[in-house]
Formats: sequence, C-alpha cells, structure tokens
Amino acid sequence: MGKGFYLSKNLAMAGLLLAAIALVTIIVLSVVYDQERSRNSSFPGDGPPSSRVSSTPNPSSSSPSTLGPLEPWQRYRLPDTLAPVFYNITLWPRLEPDQQGLFIFTGNSTVQFVCVKDTDLILIHANKLNFTLFQGHKARLLAVDMAHPAPQIRNSWLEEETEYLVLQLDGMLLAGKVYLLGTQFQGELGDNLEGFYRSQYTEDGVQKVLATSQMQATFARQAFPCFDEPAMKATFNVVLIHPPGTTALSNSRETESVDMESDGIPVTRTTYEPTKKMSTYLLAFIVSNFTFIQAAQDTDVQVRIWARSQAIAEGQGDYALNVTGAILNFYEHYYNTSYPLSKSDQVALPDFNAGAMENWGLITYRETALLYDPIASSTGNKERVATVISHELAHMWFGNLVTLRWWNDLWLNEGFASYVEYLGADHAEPSWDIRDHIIFDVHKVFAVDALASSHPLSRSEEEVNQPSQIGEMFNTISYSKGAAVLRMLSEFLSESVFARGLSSYLNTFAFSNTVYTDLWDHLQLAVEETPDISLPHSVQDIMNRWVLQMGFPVVTVDTRTGHISQKHFLVDPEAEVDRHSPFNYSWFVPIKWMKSGVEQEQFWLLKKTDVQSRVIATGGEWVLANTNVSGYFRVNYDLENWERLLLLLHTDHQAIPIINRAQLLDDAFNLARAKVINTTLALRTTSYLSKERDYIPWASALSNLNYYFLMFDRTDVYGPLQGYIRKQILPLFDYFRTITANWTRVPHGHNDQYNQINAINMACNMGLKGCRELAQRWFSQWMADPEHNPIHPNLKSTVYCSAIAFGGTEEWDFAWRMFQNATVATESARLRAALACTKVPWLLNRYLQYSIDPTKIRKQDATSTIVAVARNVVGMPLAWNFVQEKWSYIFEQYGRGSFSFAGLINGITKRFSSEFELQELKRFKEQNLQVGFGSATLALEQAIEKTRANIRWLADSRAQVLDWLSGEAQ
Ligand SMILES: *[C@@H]1O[C@H](CO)[C@@H](O)[C@H](O)[C@H]1NC(C)=O
Ligand SMILES: *[C@@H]1O[C@H](CO)[C@@H](O)[C@H](O)[C@H]1NC(C)=O
Ligand SMILES: *[C@@H]1O[C@H](CO)[C@@H](O)[C@H](O)[C@H]1NC(C)=O
Ligand SMILES: [Zn+2]
Repeated sequence: MGKGFYLSKNLAMAGLLLAAIALVTIIVLSVVYDQERSRNSSFPGDGPPSSRVSSTPNPSSSSPSTLGPLEPWQRYRLPDTLAPVFYNITLWPRLEPDQQGLFIFTGNSTVQFVCVKDTDLILIHANKLNFTLFQGHKARLLAVDMAHPAPQIRNSWLEEETEYLVLQLDGMLLAGKVYLLGTQFQGELGDNLEGFYRSQYTEDGVQKVLATSQMQATFARQAFPCFDEPAMKATFNVVLIHPPGTTALSNSRETESVDMESDGIPVTRTTYEPTKKMSTYLLAFIVSNFTFIQAAQDTDVQVRIWARSQAIAEGQGDYALNVTGAILNFYEHYYNTSYPLSKSDQVALPDFNAGAMENWGLITYRETALLYDPIASSTGNKERVATVISHELAHMWFGNLVTLRWWNDLWLNEGFASYVEYLGADHAEPSWDIRDHIIFDVHKVFAVDALASSHPLSRSEEEVNQPSQIGEMFNTISYSKGAAVLRMLSEFLSESVFARGLSSYLNTFAFSNTVYTDLWDHLQLAVEETPDISLPHSVQDIMNRWVLQMGFPVVTVDTRTGHISQKHFLVDPEAEVDRHSPFNYSWFVPIKWMKSGVEQEQFWLLKKTDVQSRVIATGGEWVLANTNVSGYFRVNYDLENWERLLLLLHTDHQAIPIINRAQLLDDAFNLARAKVINTTLALRTTSYLSKERDYIPWASALSNLNYYFLMFDRTDVYGPLQGYIRKQILPLFDYFRTITANWTRVPHGHNDQYNQINAINMACNMGLKGCRELAQRWFSQWMADPEHNPIHPNLKSTVYCSAIAFGGTEEWDFAWRMFQNATVATESARLRAALACTKVPWLLNRYLQYSIDPTKIRKQDATSTIVAVARNVVGMPLAWNFVQEKWSYIFEQYGRGSFSFAGLINGITKRFSSEFELQELKRFKEQNLQVGFGSATLALEQAIEKTRANIRWLADSRAQVLDWLSGEAQ
C-alpha cells in the first residue's frame, strides 16, 4: 500500500481525536474559569476596570453558567495577530531588602513587534509584575512608521489567570506595520526558584545574596512582559544594573560595563551583545559575587565555569571545564554544525529547582550537577556532572537553535537530549562504558509505561494549555521513553544515517521552530539517500506507532514453532485500558537477536503475530532477542528456551551481553508481576548472581528485588528473603574485600566502583556479618575526628546510612552538624539522605518538620527529604501522615510549577499494598480536591493504580515466594 493511504487514514484519525480533545478542553476551561471567578471576586487587586468601558465585555460581566465563546484574554494561548522582533530590556535586581523587608527588581522593557493581522487588542504575558502608569495606562504604544501613528490605549489591565497584560486600543493595528510597546515595572525577587529570583549562601561567615533566573516553562513573564511562547522567537538587547563589584551575566557576551549612579545609588551598568533569535524560556540573568575559571582559548568560543568563589578556589569547577570542551567538540561533529554562540557559561547555583537548565549560552545547574571535588565527591557525582553537562550542551543545538513550536512536543526535546547525553559523556569518558547505562532509563520508564494510566509521548497542541499542564509534560515518559525510542530509531537507521538526518533538520530550521514530524521528514530524506538501508515502512509510519500510542509490547518468541507475537504489556493484567489507540496497540518492532551466541540478521514484527522459522531452536541452541536492548520492548520465550537461558546463566553467563543479562532479569520479574510467567521463574534468574561480578546485571537485580523488599519488609517473608540475598551477595562482598586489599583501595573500573557500593550497601542492609561493624567503625572514627573523614567518597552514602540506622541520637546529631557545616553540595546531599535512615521515630518526625523549614532545609530539597524518610520502613507511615496533614501548606509553598512534586507522591506510596492503604489514598484524593495536586495529579492516579496492582500481586505471589525462598535459604 502506498504512503498516500496511510497519510489520509492518519489524518482522519487525528481529526477524530482533535474533536474529542477540543470538547474536553472546553469543559476543563470552563471549570477552571469558574474557580478563578470565585477567587477573583474576593480579590481587590488588578481586575479589569469594569466601570470605565461599559461597551466592552470583560470577564466579570459574563455569566459563569453560560458556555459562551471565551474572550481572547481568557485563553491560555496567544492569538496569531502579533509577532515580536526584538526586545530592549533593562533589569535592576536589588540584593538588599527594601524598608518593608522585600527583595525587589525594577525594569524597563521595549518590545518591537510586527502586526500580522489587523487587531485592536494587544495581549502580552506578564505575571506578578506591578506597572508604572503612562497617562493612566500600564504601557506606552508607538508606531515605528511615523506616517501611520499608533492607536491610543483605551483600557489596560492584568488578567491574572491567563497571565496577560491586556491592552484594548481605540483603533486598529495594521498588518505589516511595526510598533513599539514600552513598559516600566517592578517585581519581587522572591525565593520561589522561578522567574527572576534570589538565592542565598554563606561565605566566610557572611550571608551573600544573588539574583538568578529560571524561565522554563512559563516564568519569563515574571521578569518582564513578553510574548512568552517558544515559537515567539526574537532577539534581546539586555542591560543589567547591579551593585559595583558584582558580576552580571546574560545569554550573550558583555560589550560594556560602566559605573554610574541611578536614583542616587552607585551602580554598574552592563550591556550585552544582542542575542541570536531565540525563545523567551531560554533567557537567563544572573548577578552574583561568583568567580570563574576559563578554558584556554583554542577556539572563538569562550568557555567558563562559575560558582561560589570558595568552590572555584578549591578546584570544584575543574572537572566540568575539562569535559565541556570534549563534549562541545563531540556535538559539533555529531551534528555537523558549529556551536551556534560565541560563549558558553555554566553556573552552579546554591538554590535551583530542576537539575539544570539549558539557557542558551548561560546554563544553570544545581551545585551537585556541575561541581566535582576530587577529594570529597564520589564517582557517581562525577558521572552525574558529565552526563548533565552533556545533556544541557546537547540542547544548545537541539532545542535552542531549533525549537519545538509548543510544549506538547516537549518529549522530543527532552527525549533527544536524554539519549545523546550518553553519547557525549561517552566521548568525554570513553573508559566508563556509559552508553550501557541507558538501560536504567529504559527500566525506569518501562515501569510507568506499563500502566493503563500511562499516556502517549505526543499530545496534541490543544491538550496542553495551562502552565500546570505544561509542567506535567516534564515527566519520565517525555525524558526516558523519548530517549529509548530515539535510541531505537538511531539503531535501526544506523548512527550515521540518524546523524545525517539530524544535521539536515538543524540546518533547515536554525533559529526557527518545528513540530516533531519535521525530524521524521529529514530522517526519511537521509534514508532515501542511503542505498543499502531498507525499511518496511516510512520513518513516520514506524515512529507513529511508538509516539502516538502509549505503552510498549511484550514480544513472545516461541523457539519450538517459530511463532512470534506481540501484545501490549500491562504490569497489571486486569487493568482496564480506556485510552483508544489509533493502531490498536500493535507496533512495528525491529528485532535484533542472536542464536547460541551468534548475532543474526535483524527482522521486523509488523503484525500482532507472525512466523519466523529461523528462530526455531534445535538441540541445545538458545535464542536471545532484543540484543543490546536496542528496542523498546520486553521479550518472553517458550519455557524450554527460558530453561536454556537459565542454564546458560549458570554455566557461562558471559556468553550473554552484559546489558541483556540485566534485561533478562528485568523482563522475568516484570512478566511475573503481570502473570505472564510464574514468580518462581523470575526468582530463579537471580540464582546465578553468586557468580556475577558486573555492575549492570546486579543493579538490575537489586532494583527488581527492591520491589520485594518494599512489599515484604513489613511481613514474615522478609526473614527468608534476607537470608537468600545474604547468600547471593556474600561472594561479591568477599570479592571486593579482596580486590580492595581489605577495603583500603579503590577498584579501577568505573562500573566496579559502583558495584562495590552496591555490594556493601546490600550486605549491610541484609545484615551480613562484618558489614555493620565496618560501617560503624568508619563512622565512629570520623566522629572522633570530624576534620578527617576516613570514609572514601564512593562509600560515604551507604556507610552514613548504615551507621545512622544502627546508631542513635548521637550519630544523628553529629551527621546533622556535619550537614549544616558542609561546603560541598554533594556531601550535604549525602548527609541529608542519610539522616532519613534512622530507625528512631521521634528523630524521623523531627526531621520531617525540618524538611519544610527553609532555614534548615533548602526549599529545593524539601520534597526529596520527605521521600527519603518514606523510603525507610519506619519512616514511611510517619511521612505519609505528615504529608496528609500538611498537604495544603506544602502544596502552596512548594507545589506550583515545581517539577519534583510528582516524585513526592510516588515516593511515599511505593510500599502501599493493602486495602486499607488504598482507601487512605482515595480519601486523601477526595479531601484535597479543593487544594489540588498540580503537577502531581497524574502521579496520584498512578499511585492508586499501582496500589491496586500491589494488593493483587501480594495475594497471588506471597505463598510462592515464601516457598521458593525457604527452599533456597538453607
Ligand atoms: C534598543 O537597543 C538598541 C541597542 O542598545 C538600540 O540601538 C536601539 O535604539 C534600542 N531601540 C529602542 C526602540 O529602544
Ligand atoms: C526605567 O526608566 C525610568 C525612566 O526613564 C528610570 O527612571 C528608571 O531608572 C529606569 N529603570 C531601570 C531599571 O532602568
Ligand atoms: C505590587 O503591588 C501590590 C499591591 O499594591 C503589593 O502588595 C506588592 O508588594 C507589590 N510588589 C512589588 C514587588 O512591588
Ligand atoms: Zn533537557
């Protein structure tokens, strides 16, 4: 069948979907609007001046019960009437509080825009800003063409819900004409980690304040009025006014810095080169006392790392600087396009919500994601620095130079960066075998995407409107599934074809915007230019299956008959799938495979069932499908092949690629949870582990067994489970004791270092003899001499946790003191996690109180601290009570727009597995409907579904598990 057929069929489907979605959107909007109205009526602030213009309908005069067409300012999306050309912005953040104790910034902004369609209305985003009036209005409008003067502003107000400054004019703006809109405003430099905000830290006993920004996704409008949508690209002429002696940074290079007076105050005025044409969410402004290190200038690109001066002096920025050069080089080759800007600044901030933010030319990081201390940091910290830098630098092209038109396509932006971050980091650290680590992303997202409440990667533009809906897009599906399916695509196209298509996409759309299918089109061109590649369908048709329907298949390979089949994999086999799929949950699956250790030619599964006689195994032959886990799917086999693979694990596990050993375990455990195979078979995949020395299979085993720990650590199964794991981990623990000469040396390999940590961690948790004593000895040595910590950075997390778990108040208080004094961010993060390990209830409750006291725990760390307490079997019920009790407070303080909020619900409900807990969860949902759940809305639904699945799993499997373990543990 020709492409034309598919195209028209897909279009028809899309039409149906759109209609359904539009209806939902209208209902949702009207509900939201009703809520907003009731809120507005009690709010005396910036409502529309209803008395002045009686002829104009405004929000408060339309009846809440009628579903009339919305006014333009009641819609979350900008109309298509105006387009910005450039902005001149001056911002002046005050790093000291005013008389009222408020930290503020003031600013002036002029935007030049072109009128695309005649209109008498200007909508421009503005939120939480107070405006200075010009002739009674909040802005000043001028025409660039003097011959056609601009109309007068008739009415201006701020629309709170949709975050607009609304200007009604007494005449028309004319299509093709260019205008200037000037504003003068004042905002709060708050500590809420969004928009233009402040961060604080102590250095040499002195409190320092800095101003920084986080614009993604919808916070640029809190810094200055702007057309705050990613497709509204413009250039920006930025001027920052700041205290003399401080440094001011923005996206482009500074051109001039002059000392002067403003309002009688001595200030420095720093001006920057005009930016390239870019989206507002990528802007950044930072005023601080930070210092920097700089790369030797062998190119025209200026590369600098910025941080607190003490951190820079201690060399904590050196590693970041080293890898940045290598990674930038890698991407220039990979994309076949030079770095688009003349400088790259990367800044480590004491207060930062996300992990990092790819502001163009001025990337911001949490300290733990940029700084590496060769003495105090672990190998994991180092890997995090390399991969996060690699992720952010990937965005400098993919995302920043070429930007998706709207947030519904966020998955492509984030999935892409989450995939290629491994390629960039691998280039910087070739000995790490880091590419294999993508398996952890795959496993993480398999868990979410196997739920009936999952959702497709792509959503229609209409489904994503409000800031909270945009916030929900930043989730595991977008990042990790996005990464997994793009990796699959790159694998079946080959990396060179993929890179060629990518480069053509970047060149075609530089400085403009795209939708995700534009990438497919350019990859298709690359395919068509390559004679020796043949695909069963177009790139678009293949990828639609992965992008437009949620979930993924389990492929069953029957090596007796050659039957191959696929089925939508659901971890809960009884879950109802309400979501319609345009492809009836069938995928085009590329299958790489091997037979008895020999790589075979890839084939495609294009239907629900098929026969491939070549997979029939005879004699002792074994078949392994999805080699290198390059496809985003699980695999099941006939029992005979499973038995042959189990045998192989015992006799010659290295015949199976490392990453597939991890996969066999993960598939088996999840197939068992879904009742596709029995639980005993899954448990048997772990019996070879006493021979396993590689990190990735062990990590996969432990993360699957973690589900058993969560389900059983409050039951009688826990004893036998511990006994079994102790037996399996003992050889690994002994192995590391030997190769580290009784724990005095560090293993060579990057992955070996991780595996040593796992070995000690598990050994201590399972109560292996010698482990607890080791942890306690190291920790008490440290307590005796706090200046000299004898614990190797790699082992600190696990040793701290064990020592605090086995210790009492004294250990806890010591760790708390060390936490407060820590000057290295990674060290304080470790201590913060370890403090949650105590088994003493009152210490845990006190710690929960601390977690929402910003003088004790930074706001950015509140939710992860509560989650850490919930991970502890003693802390879980305490954390759950705490969150239920404080939900409205926590939500108000931390919930809005915060990306980590879904993690809070996830983290707390992980152990939920009883009818009683399910009821509690439902009650919690009902009782807080008024308050809302923001970015945790979806997570709450998923928690309910997961709890149901856990209840059923326990009922079905408990006896089998206990039986099998009792047989094994002797
Ligand atoms: C905007 O700033 C640029 C660079 O400083 C200047 O040349 C231009 O005149 C300014 N335009 C307006 C309308 O303020
Ligand atoms: C904005 O412009 C006004 C009037 O020209 C001036 O008084 C004020 O200092 C300016 N503010 C900033 C932050 O530049
Ligand atoms: C903005 O105006 C409101 C109402 O007058 C006031 O409460 C608030 O403090 C102002 N914000 C700033 C940053 O000036
Ligand atoms: Zn990203």
